[in-house]
Amino acid sequence: MPGVIHLRTEIPGPGSRALTARRAGAVPRGVPAVTPIAVVHAEGAVLTDADGNRFIDFAGGIGVVNTGHRHAGVVGAVREQLDRYAHLCFPVSTYEPYVELAERLNRLTPGDHEKRTFLVNSGAEAVENAVKVARFFTGRQAVVCFEHGFHGRTNLAMALTSKVMPYKKGFGPFAPEVYRIPYPYCYRCEKAERPAPSSSKARTGARPDRCCMAEIEYFERLFAATVDPESVAAIVMELELGEGGFVPAPVEYVRALADFARKHGILFVADEIQTGFGRTGAMFACEHYGLIPDIITTAKSLAGGLPLAAVTGRADVMEAAHPGGLGGTYGGNPLACVAALAVLDAMDRERIPERARRAGERIAARFRSWAECYPCIGDVRGLGAMVGMELVSDPVSRTPDKALTARLIAGALQRGLILLSSGTYGNVVRVLAPLTIEDEVLDEGLAAMEEALKEAVAGTSGSSGRTPS
Ligand SMILES: Cc1ncc(COP(=O)(O)O)c(C=O)c1O
Repeated sequence: MPGVIHLRTEIPGPGSRALTARRAGAVPRGVPAVTPIAVVHAEGAVLTDADGNRFIDFAGGIGVVNTGHRHAGVVGAVREQLDRYAHLCFPVSTYEPYVELAERLNRLTPGDHEKRTFLVNSGAEAVENAVKVARFFTGRQAVVCFEHGFHGRTNLAMALTSKVMPYKKGFGPFAPEVYRIPYPYCYRCEKAERPAPSSSKARTGARPDRCCMAEIEYFERLFAATVDPESVAAIVMELELGEGGFVPAPVEYVRALADFARKHGILFVADEIQTGFGRTGAMFACEHYGLIPDIITTAKSLAGGLPLAAVTGRADVMEAAHPGGLGGTYGGNPLACVAALAVLDAMDRERIPERARRAGERIAARFRSWAECYPCIGDVRGLGAMVGMELVSDPVSRTPDKALTARLIAGALQRGLILLSSGTYGNVVRVLAPLTIEDEVLDEGLAAMEEALKEAVAGTSGSSGRTPS
């Protein structure tokens, strides 16, 4: 049966090259071009470029199209809304799609308590606003965040973000009163008990047992030595790191942290911008932890491709700030709101979280089978379909292999698969395919990835693996 991938020209073809050349003359290089292709059409999990080449999309607009490109419900809702009004400015006049979306997010997010939601334009803006709200409510200034965390590119979000290159280098000074603790990154925990080099645990990167307890010591130390917990407004956390390399936090760690926060009147802000809306096999990653955050930030897949983000939280916390202190010109644009309502309908009707669980099992099983053959796959991990594999040049020292990762991704593109890396060391391959992807298309993408892995490994001296049967 013919597959979805169809390559008619070299990659990038002449059409893509022409547009990227124009781009170079018009757009600063600081806005990265992760792939060299120019796309003219997107549908489901398939992209068509300017030369008629068809690619399978494992990037999904960086986790924005969980419901697939051009979901029919989203397209229809936006078209209809365009015939009514495109923009009013919510602070000027109230419109129903905004109110309805706020009501639905209040119901959908974890916890039965009374909540409020307001809408902004991007993930970074949502995080900035979550901190604003937390500071106002608590009357405290400090914010605790994590190594390997990513929260956006605005000034405070950048301060909360942990990766220096490319996100922070040269862009300071950063917002003050930001305190960072190690993320419970089991595979790289300094205090982890390392499995013996010869053991199968060393080869597959199996989790050390006592890692997260060691990390808990770090936050206790921070509050004893560096910052008074009574001056901390909020802890901002991704329950599974996104840009930081698809690392899920251990349940016991999150519970201990949440208990500590509650004891000291610190608000728990869950950044679900990448983990949200089905990606982890639950509507929100919090659900895997039994965590009811005080505030939750969402964006990305919320509106199926339209720019929209939300801050949802306890009513008492959210109501604290004075009128005019929150909001903005475009926040909760009507087109984006109706798109989000269509996404939420699809999440339910098409059982997207359940599909994510199934897709995640398929992806992780495939990655694990590769890990049996290739020692360069140090770890396979993730919740639901938020699966990544960490590549290392040596499974015992766990030295990150960024070059191998780049070769794999470049090779995948040549085979018609759009793939992204992540991780502070650029050595994690992550899958953010639309959750609506058909099994055959997912398998075709994974087959392309396996070929690219084989070729990338073959190009590494001394780190070859055996060919999977
Ligand atoms: C967890 C997380 N928070 C915040 C952001 C920032 O979102 P935006 O790029 O929409 O500002 C991102 C973007 O990747 C993210 O993954």
